[in-house]
Amino acid sequence: MKQIGYCVAGLGVGKAHVAAAAANPHVGYLAICDIDEARLEAVGKQYPQAVRYNTFEAMLEDPNIDIVSVALPSGIHAEYAVKALEAGKNVLCEKPIDTTVEKALRIEEARIRTGKKVGVIFQNRNIPVIRETKKALENGALGKLILGTFSVKWYRDQPYYDAGGWRGTWAMDGGGSLMNQAVHTVDLMQWLMGDVESVQGIYTVANHNIETEDLTASLIRFKNGATATFVSTTCCNPDRGTFLQIYGADGCIELRGDTIDAWKVKGITPEEEAAMREKYADGGAAAVAADPTLVTGHASQVNDMVEAVLQDRDPQVCPMEAIKAVRIINAVYESSRTGQVIRFE
Ligand SMILES: NC(=O)c1ccc[n+]([C@@H]2O[C@H](COP(=O)([O-])OP(=O)(O)OC[C@H]3O[C@@H](n4cnc5c(N)ncnc54)[C@H](O)[C@@H]3O)[C@@H](O)[C@H]2O)c1
Repeated sequence: MKQIGYCVAGLGVGKAHVAAAAANPHVGYLAICDIDEARLEAVGKQYPQAVRYNTFEAMLEDPNIDIVSVALPSGIHAEYAVKALEAGKNVLCEKPIDTTVEKALRIEEARIRTGKKVGVIFQNRNIPVIRETKKALENGALGKLILGTFSVKWYRDQPYYDAGGWRGTWAMDGGGSLMNQAVHTVDLMQWLMGDVESVQGIYTVANHNIETEDLTASLIRFKNGATATFVSTTCCNPDRGTFLQIYGADGCIELRGDTIDAWKVKGITPEEEAAMREKYADGGAAAVAADPTLVTGHASQVNDMVEAVLQDRDPQVCPMEAIKAVRIINAVYESSRTGQVIRFE
């Protein structure tokens, strides 16, 4: 089997990509890239086999590299992903794909032009209970979808925003609690509930010194007639976590993070519901133990990307799929600025 050369650019959350690539049996060549020498040195020490690059451009000239993880600040994802594609590399891009639909579409255009592969990180799609929820909805286990209530009640302190430099800025973060933190849940909302028809929302800076927002509230209508509310914030001290609640004509699923509050699908008995709750307690520990192929977190998508290149197939989350969350989030911001309902085609 061909061995893959893998480079991770950006060594913040990129460290999770490095760990996954280093553990992947098909990765025969590992490289790391960051303009921050201290980070390069720290990660390089941990992975002595990794070739080090302190500029993205020098890294692109390395012919041994097949895949580049772009784990750079959000507002430069498209710029660097396109450079990598044009240099003949495949790309695994961190979320959000970029901060605007227009920039994200440049990645899709470059993907088509170069014939290379692009995957986008939305690792929460691979949380065991989320996979189960997707399956249940596809099987019509709730009947007609009526309502979703989604809330991301997180906490980030002021030093978090001050440390990154780029965080909480429109140019580089593209927003705040919704674009950075809740983008995962926006993606899950649209993946689970269906295509969005319209968005109405507000945002505000409630309790941080930042340019963008730390609180949003919105109302979403879906093409299938369902409705959802969505709240995101980084002001909940202490952090209360993520809540996904979906109600259909014949049942409901209520999740708290990666565990089950209620699993009342069509025809389920109280004993079966208790067993489901047990299986997905502790983030699905029992489910993962029962099925060793169930890989989660960043490793699930790094492994998927390596396989996609080896098997010449699409990665799990392609650009046009990842762009949907960016479109919804920017519609919330636009609605807040204009007071208008934003309608999707
Ligand atoms: N999937 C997740 O759960 C998850 C979690 C956290 C962050 N993220 C995303 O990952 C991305 C990075 O976030 P972070 O928290 O790691 O940020 P960070 O600031 O900690 O890390 C970014 C790194 O990129 C480096 N960098 C910047 N410009 C560069 C360039 N031109 N060439 C090489 N290196 C460069 C910086 O030196 C820094 O080390 C963001 O898009 C963020 O939204 C995803």
